[in-house]
Amino acid sequence: MISNQEKKIKDIIDKINYHNDLYYNKDNPEISDAEYDLLISEFKKIQKNIPNLKDADNPLMNIGGRSSDEFTKFNHPTRMLSLDNAMTNEDIENFIKKIIRFLSLKDTNIPFSIEPKIDGLSVNLVYEDGQLKVAATRGDGLNGEIITNNVFTIKEIPQKLRVKFPPKKLEIRGEIFITKKDFLDLNERSKNQFANPRNAAAGSLRQLDVKITASRPLKFIAHGFGIYEEGKKTYYDQMKELKTWGIPISPYLKVANGIDDLIKNYNYINDKRSEIPYDIDGLVYKVNDTLYQSRLGTVGKTPRWAIAHKFASETARTSIKKIDIQIGRTGSVTPVARLESINIGGVLVSNATLHNFEEIEKKRHKRR
Ligand code: IVH
Repeated sequence: MISNQEKKIKDIIDKINYHNDLYYNKDNPEISDAEYDLLISEFKKIQKNIPNLKDADNPLMNIGGRSSDEFTKFNHPTRMLSLDNAMTNEDIENFIKKIIRFLSLKDTNIPFSIEPKIDGLSVNLVYEDGQLKVAATRGDGLNGEIITNNVFTIKEIPQKLRVKFPPKKLEIRGEIFITKKDFLDLNERSKNQFANPRNAAAGSLRQLDVKITASRPLKFIAHGFGIYEEGKKTYYDQMKELKTWGIPISPYLKVANGIDDLIKNYNYINDKRSEIPYDIDGLVYKVNDTLYQSRLGTVGKTPRWAIAHKFASETARTSIKKIDIQIGRTGSVTPVARLESINIGGVLVSNATLHNFEEIEKKRHKRR
């Protein structure tokens, strides 16, 4: 038995999916933009009442794309790893100590590469004799989905490496993303109401119709390797070489020695975070020496030689346009501030629930 509310939600989701399909896949819309916008705003209103709605069932997450099972699966030649997270300087100290112990080193100041951790989508690019043969999503790290034709539309990713004698086989890992500015423009010019740049990048990439991908401002930055025969001695040198072959690498890539240097860089980038054109949620430190990397190896899905040093969640300042009073089903009164939209950590924030009078009273009493 489904409730009236659930039926209403299901109906509206079905309706949006139906019109999305007509608009994006069949190029044959039946309703005007204004009618469609009304439908979306109706859905957004009730969306708050469905906290368990999965991304896969959310029509705003799937705009313009048919379901993922239409992509061919790809078994990555080498596993795509993920990273352990460090939240504090102490976590970083422990990470370094473990490495030094594992390698039985006397010198504790070993070099680490530093790069921002981009909040995008991880992809694997398989080059054979310098030609891009397969591009695949990360998936579960072992198996992803083939998106080669979509990746061919990203200008920043060369189909042929600019090198005379390329490695026979090379797997380049990196992040596909959309800049904060491009995300705002994209949301403005299209009917797509993506929640954040990462969603916009995901929705743009996994398209059966590559024309849609081609029209989206997708960018790429490499951050590692799978198979890499004839690799260089340090990660930094490998990345610099990639750059000469036409692969974009992080402009913030550098090498630091020891914990103090890492923390100094962390604080510096954290302060500059809002100036960086794309969303980042921390820094990634990697043991720079690739021989040490292979000696350190992996534990399950994560390497011993790398870690993500996460930033605290972002705060931002904006102005209140007006305050509406929302009456809940139980009669509860909640003031809601309508804000000048602002991008905080990749999420476009336009509303903020304020404390209601009861809550303010409670806080007042607590303070006494
Ligand atoms: S290195 C060696 N470097 O973060 C481990 N990852 O959980 C492989 N990411 O799936 C990742 N920026 O999609 C690495 N500079 C960076 C990164 C980065 C973003 C993503 C990547 C990975 C996830 C780690």
